[in-house]
Amino acid sequence: MEPIPQSSPSFERHLLHYGRDFLPELIVRAEGSYIYTENGRSIIDFSSGQMCATIGHSHPKIVGAMGQAGQTVIHLDSTMVSPDVVALVDRLCELLPDPLNKAQLLNTGAESNEAAIKLAKIATGRFEIIGMTGSWHGTTTGAASATYAHGRKKYGPAMPGALAIPAPNSYRCPIRHCKNQCDNTCLEVGFDMIDATSVGEEAAVIVEPIQSAGGIIDLPPGYLARLRELCDERGILLILDEAQTGLGRVGDMFGFERDGVAPDIITLSKTLGGGLPLAAVVTTDAVAQAARERGFSHFTSHTSDPFTATVGLAVVDVILDENLTERAATIGQYLKDRLCELQERHDAIGDVRGRGLLLGVEIVANRETREPGYDLIKALTARCFELGLNVNQVGGPHTVWRIAPPLTISKDEIDRAIGIMDQAFRNED
Ligand SMILES: Cc1ncc(COP(=O)(O)O)c(C=O)c1O
Repeated sequence: MEPIPQSSPSFERHLLHYGRDFLPELIVRAEGSYIYTENGRSIIDFSSGQMCATIGHSHPKIVGAMGQAGQTVIHLDSTMVSPDVVALVDRLCELLPDPLNKAQLLNTGAESNEAAIKLAKIATGRFEIIGMTGSWHGTTTGAASATYAHGRKKYGPAMPGALAIPAPNSYRCPIRHCKNQCDNTCLEVGFDMIDATSVGEEAAVIVEPIQSAGGIIDLPPGYLARLRELCDERGILLILDEAQTGLGRVGDMFGFERDGVAPDIITLSKTLGGGLPLAAVVTTDAVAQAARERGFSHFTSHTSDPFTATVGLAVVDVILDENLTERAATIGQYLKDRLCELQERHDAIGDVRGRGLLLGVEIVANRETREPGYDLIKALTARCFELGLNVNQVGGPHTVWRIAPPLTISKDEIDRAIGIMDQAFRNED
């Protein structure tokens, strides 16, 4: 196969390098499950953009909503609300259980988590925020202080009161206790550590129902229920960050539904805008009231923007009208089965995990010892991209493939992607 043609050298002249290396080709179009490069290559997108294009790239309903919103009202003062802003907060609160009845529309995941953290602090009058190792809540300072997957080094002190419990990773147990099946001992140990290290000012715990950047770590059944008990015993609020798990991706409308445990505050972002910057923080009447009485203030230039609210309504409509939640469960199981078949053929696959269409494949250099396949996954990821498949590397040592295509992906597209992975593994075998 010909090497991928490089873009012109001017490509990076003025682009600030803000993280991972840029891919070598410019992307000129995206539609459905595919992105298209300047060289005419079509690539299946197993990361749904930055995990946001859940209903497929450039869904016609999103394009239509943008046209409509552009002709009515794009932006307003934050004290003014449009009918679609009201409709969207109503819709989100209807989808969520009581008493999650108060929502604010924002733009990014980090911003929604900043709001959640501030709500928890002002409502409880306390300041300690307990995160989880391997978490990702955003790169602004408050959210970053509760983020343990990335970006903690070299920016000086984190927010005072940032504490952490270990992620229940049963493939690589953080307390060297379980193997393949977590029995929640790490949660008990984690809270022993919190009790020992907290200064008695715990405001909230913030977790993702399935840790994504952390390597697709699904909180095991029973974990959230026990976490809820531990929070309630101490008067701590529970914040769930459903940036990636919310709105259908995991085969339920929200990640917490499987466990029947509702949070005090939930944040929604990536999947809500379908590719546009839209996020929401939703909380209970009680937290909202306590926060208001104490003067909660978190308004930004683009809170309650009408334009993105119209798009968000279209996204939620598509998820409901096209039964994408059920689709994520069934086609997600199909994809997981196909990944498990690959695991039978290729020793480099140590583990296949996840729910719905948020799946993880852990690449190992040695299946017996579970030695992480650092170099192997890099080579495999690059080969997949050459062959027409975009897949992200996540997890502490970046040795887990995060498999999260749009919920609209077809079986044929999945089969094509599995074929590409198979070929990449055979090259390395
Ligand atoms: C679970 C989770 N929360 C929050 C964020 C931050 O979202 P944003 O990048 O929109 O600020 C991310 C980003 O990857 C995420 O995965």
